[in-house]
Amino acid sequence: MRRMVAEHRLHPADLILPAFVREGISEPVPISAMPGVVQHTRDTLRKAAVEAVEAGVAGIMLFGVPEDAKKDAAGTAGTDPDGILQVAIRDVRAEVGDDLVIMSDLCLDEYTDHGHCGVMDADGRVDNDATLERYAEMAQVQADAGVHVVGPSGMMDGQIGVIRDALDQTGHEDVSILAYTVKYSSAFYGPFREAVGSSLQGDRKTYQQDPANLRESLRELALDLEEGADMVMVKPALPYLDVLAKIADAVEVPVAAYQISGEYAMVEAAAEKGWIDRDKAIMETLTGIKRAGANMILTYWATEAARGL
Ligand code: PBG
Repeated sequence: MRRMVAEHRLHPADLILPAFVREGISEPVPISAMPGVVQHTRDTLRKAAVEAVEAGVAGIMLFGVPEDAKKDAAGTAGTDPDGILQVAIRDVRAEVGDDLVIMSDLCLDEYTDHGHCGVMDADGRVDNDATLERYAEMAQVQADAGVHVVGPSGMMDGQIGVIRDALDQTGHEDVSILAYTVKYSSAFYGPFREAVGSSLQGDRKTYQQDPANLRESLRELALDLEEGADMVMVKPALPYLDVLAKIADAVEVPVAAYQISGEYAMVEAAAEKGWIDRDKAIMETLTGIKRAGANMILTYWATEAARGL
């Protein structure tokens, strides 16, 4: 009876797998704060993509982790056609073709030596407009590599418009934009910083949102839609389900939510201690995110959860 009257139902096609690929390693490297998640080699990333397809997962969101020596102030590796993310996009596209929606993180923090999502001005602040120029270049190289969807996550003002123009002007009209529209400055990104080997100096409060604000998210939404976002995302998920519900009510485009590294770590850590039932907790969080209004959920459990479904 419960099954029959259920108001919401998870499906493998709701799920998107975020995956890290690291340059210059021959074995996958475990991420200690995210038990079960690794920095992939190029080979194991291909395998993970195939497994995701087999489980029915809809998409993969790729993050590149360059060699430390290649990080610099401008995040040059992010726009190198042979940079690790571009190589990984080509690898995954060659392996699974169009069986998986291939998405890429479009942000500089994986590539900068200071760990910020943009380039800095002379006073050591993130320079919004100079960063937009870098994002335009990133959009082009990622699209050239064969990505289906770019995911700008840097929260610079005007990023969606600039990226849309860059894609259109370089013959990539078909590449979609999944905008990280609502992105809070969150403590729950902690484990991600290890995952991408980032040593962030300072914080992201000049460009990520204050957890105290809800109305601000609706303003971010209006801007992104006007600038050409095809899909919008709320991030993190669990502490912001009210925001997700508001956004889902307000739009006519698909809505994604990102169950981030710290959300994953919380459940895994409590389960490891025997304090909660891991599998039930995972499904409960995913169902809650869907109920709040997400059409798509980025989760590190995507392949496992899809298999279970
Ligand atoms: C920025 C980016 C971050 C995440 C995804 N894209 C980190 C940040 O904004 O600090 C976090 C994802 C996670 O924590 O799982 N490139």
